[in-house]
Parts: sequence; C-alpha cells; structure tokens
Amino acid sequence: MDFGLSGKFALVTGGSHGIGLASAKQLAAQGCNVAICSRSQQRLDAAKDELKAYGVRLLAVAADVLEAGAADRVMDIIDREWGDLHILINNVGGGGRWGKESVEETELLVWSEVYEKNAMAAVRFTRRALPHMRRNKWGRVVTITSIYGGKEGGGRPWFTMAKAAETGLMKSLSAMTYLVREGITFNAVAPGGIDIAGTGFDDEKRRDPAAFQRMIDADYPLGRLGTPEEVAAVVAFLCSVQASLVNGANITVDGGQSRSL
Ligand SMILES: NC(=O)c1ccc[n+]([C@@H]2O[C@H](COP(=O)([O-])OP(=O)(O)OC[C@H]3O[C@@H](n4cnc5c(N)ncnc54)[C@H](OP(=O)(O)O)[C@@H]3O)[C@@H](O)[C@H]2O)c1
Repeated sequence: MDFGLSGKFALVTGGSHGIGLASAKQLAAQGCNVAICSRSQQRLDAAKDELKAYGVRLLAVAADVLEAGAADRVMDIIDREWGDLHILINNVGGGGRWGKESVEETELLVWSEVYEKNAMAAVRFTRRALPHMRRNKWGRVVTITSIYGGKEGGGRPWFTMAKAAETGLMKSLSAMTYLVREGITFNAVAPGGIDIAGTGFDDEKRRDPAAFQRMIDADYPLGRLGTPEEVAAVVAFLCSVQASLVNGANITVDGGQSRSL
C-alpha cells in the first residue's frame, strides 16, 4: 500500500538500532526522507549504510538526549539542512532495567534520568517539530511507550511512570484542537517484549536459556517475543495519510502479552 509519504521528512529519535531503526527503514521504504539521532557514531554510520538502499535523503546526528541542549541541537541541524519536518517518531527511551529491585535502594538519579530519556525527550522534540507540522498543515507524532505505561501495571516504577507520562502527553496533545485541526495526529505505540540483539532479553537468554524459555511459555501467548519490524509496521501505518482518523490512540503491539482489556 502507498502510504502517501514520498518526499516527506521524518525524524526517528534513537533511530540507529532496534525499533527505531526498523521504523526508519519502513518510512524510507515509503520514500520518506529520514533523520536519525543517537549517541554512538559507529551505530549511526552502520544504520545510515543500511538506509542508503532506499535512495532517500538521510541525516544521522550524534546526540545524547541526557545532555542539556541535545534535542535542540538535533532540531537545529534538521532546520538548517532540510528546513522541514512532517513526521516525528519519539522512540528514544528505555531504562526498564535500570535501578535495583528495591525502590529505597534505587537512587533518585535513576528516576530523573529515566524520565528525562523517555518523557522529556519526547516533550523537547515534539515542541520543536510542531511549528513545521503546523506550517505544512499536516503532521504525525508517534511515541513509542510500553505496555507498562498504559493500562497494564508492572515494570520498574520509574520506567512505568515515564512511559505513562508519554502516553498522557500523546493523549492530551491529541485533544488540542488548534493542532489536530491542522492535520496533525498524536499517537502512542505500546510494545510488549521485543527481541532485539544486544539488549536485555538477549542477555537473559544467553545467561539461562531454560529460565528464559519458561518465562516465554508463561507470559507470551504466541510463545515468542515480538520483532522490531512488527512494531515498526504499526508505526509506519500511523504515519500514513490513510491513518488520518487515528488520533489519541494507544496501540498495544505485544502479541497478547498484556492482560488488561
Ligand atoms: N525492546 C523492548 O522490549 C521494548 C519494549 C517496550 C518498549 N520499548 C521502547 O522502545 C523504544 C526503543 O527501544 P529498543 O528496544 O528498540 O532499544 P535499542 O535497540 O536499545 O535502541 C535504542 C536506540 O536509542 C539510542 N539511544 C539510547 N540511549 C540514547 C541516548 N541517551 N541519547 C540518544 N540516543 C540514545 C540507541 O543508540 P546509542 O546506544 O548509540 O545511543 C539506539 O539507536 C524505547 O523507548 C523503549 O523503551 C522497547
């Protein structure tokens, strides 16, 4: 299906790996020009090499969203190089394994850094993206949250709190008539456990394969984790012209892992 994204400009934060890179690829496959940002120049270069296959314009910006002014610096580069933006994927985030089991023994810094990396990063990029979208009278903001941060309880509290803030951010922006009547939509995508090389699940699998399999059998109805591409497919659809009525949604992509209605 043609999503009507050819020639549009998108930024995927944390777009050099995992769900972000898979989303960047699916947008690029639709002819959308793509900017990605993340910390490691090496990862950015590798991601850019993969994205080159789609023949769209690319930007790869090294930035750590935990550093002051990083989001502004990324957006300044987009303003200078492109002067335009139609789509923002607020993907950078994580911290679900940060801290300790004990709340009292977990430093306050963990709470604030997880909040900054997820919720405040989404706020900072969204604020800078909106003027472009309003000028274009069209825009898509999609924020990658988590099943822990919508209707489902669970997860470490600093992570669930930050993800819930992102869900609330998308929902409240989706009701702001001066934005949505200019063709901008705001949605959250809430993944369950996603199998990504080099991240937490991968480590658990390597450490104790039998325990990992027991966890999968108990918690995952499909008998497997999700893939980044399965999340990215939903992200790409939400960015499409066809998704114009999907606004303020919180879409679970978890193969039935979450138990809430
Ligand atoms: N994987 C899951 O099971 C799962 C489940 C629910 C929700 N999610 C959410 O999905 C999103 C993507 O997660 P993922 O699993 O795809 O992660 P991932 O594979 O580890 O990729 C994270 C991306 O963000 C970049 N990044 C990390 N810290 C950064 C920072 N401080 N500043 C700038 N960029 C940074 C990484 O590159 P560098 O390391 O080079 O910076 C990478 O490009 C997150 O919001 C996460 O909470 C994931």
